[in-house]
Amino acid sequence: MANLICSTTNEFYDMNEPLWRSISGGLLDINFNPAFDIKKIQSRKPNLWRYRDAIPIHDDAFILSVDEGFTPLLEIHFDGKSTWIKQEQLFSSGSYKDRGATVLMSKVNELEIKHVVQDSSGNAGCAIAMYAALGNIDCDIFVAEHTSQNKLKQMEMYGAHLHKINGTREDVAQAAFQSAQKNYYASHCWNPFFFQGTKTFAFEVCEQLGWKAPDAVIVPAGNGTLLIGCYIGFNELLTAGIISKIPKLVAVQSENCAPLFEAFHQRKNEENSTKNTETIAEGIAIAKPIRLNQMLEAVKKTNGKVITISEIEILDSLKLCGQIGYYIEPTSAATIAGLRKYLKESDNEKIVSLFSGHGLKSK
Ligand SMILES: Cc1ncc(COP(=O)(O)O)c(C=O)c1O
Repeated sequence: MANLICSTTNEFYDMNEPLWRSISGGLLDINFNPAFDIKKIQSRKPNLWRYRDAIPIHDDAFILSVDEGFTPLLEIHFDGKSTWIKQEQLFSSGSYKDRGATVLMSKVNELEIKHVVQDSSGNAGCAIAMYAALGNIDCDIFVAEHTSQNKLKQMEMYGAHLHKINGTREDVAQAAFQSAQKNYYASHCWNPFFFQGTKTFAFEVCEQLGWKAPDAVIVPAGNGTLLIGCYIGFNELLTAGIISKIPKLVAVQSENCAPLFEAFHQRKNEENSTKNTETIAEGIAIAKPIRLNQMLEAVKKTNGKVITISEIEILDSLKLCGQIGYYIEPTSAATIAGLRKYLKESDNEKIVSLFSGHGLKSK
């Protein structure tokens, strides 16, 4: 039995109600018992739908998929230390956001919703627009005027209607939120089905390491869609008895926009609310992530930490990755800069991180 649950009031709703938030306006989560039959999983195609019995879509007929996922996990050395990097830049739309989008838009398809709205700093918009195209679903995407031209072109190519907002990332989210009063919000932050896709990152890491959890996973943290997805995924594997521990979840933010870092170190108060100063890591420039409490829980409960990085460190990692053969975007390089900081203090740990987005889509 699966249902939607309001994280504020604990009210339950049927999974087939077309809700992206609860009736009282709270964030929704999903209450669901995933199943993992390892033999069955291994007999299926190498894509994220191999974990079909752990993904809460009722009917296969509605799944919108391009065989995404099961991205390679490669051993790469940084500054002489070994790490394992998931090649998430290789997804069809160019970032790991396809994980969340394939599941969320399959649910939209199953609910027979024909029109969605979304807002994005770029990659989530590309991913939602791509799966909307697969399902012949109308898609309005709110973006900031300064969004990378390549990402805007990509969204338009999929057939999305763009609404360019002259303002901050928060103004863009507000405009989409207004539009979502009348339309279904396929938001990667509000909509709980997105996290049912990003959690498959944890399943793949585990399977690729021989059904074992690593010691630490280093992820970017903007709206925390991968951070929270990892927390859900590793917890589900632990509950199912497949792994015996949850890895430390380590979140990386830009020094110029670090609300999770501030909350983690209890630096934030009402007057001192997080600033969103310019950063080249556009995907993690989120001053007010709506699931901040869940992000904090993911880091704290796993004994993780939050690392901040400077613009110079991002540029340095961007260049380094290029020179070792990986062309990634600046937001992606921010995670690698955080990973390299983490590696300096780490000894003998199995560490997993990722290239989150492809370089060809950045400005
Ligand atoms: C390439 C890339 N990496 C990381 C992130 C941060 O993602 P999240 O919002 O899941 O924290 C984004 C978000 O757009 C992104 O585009």
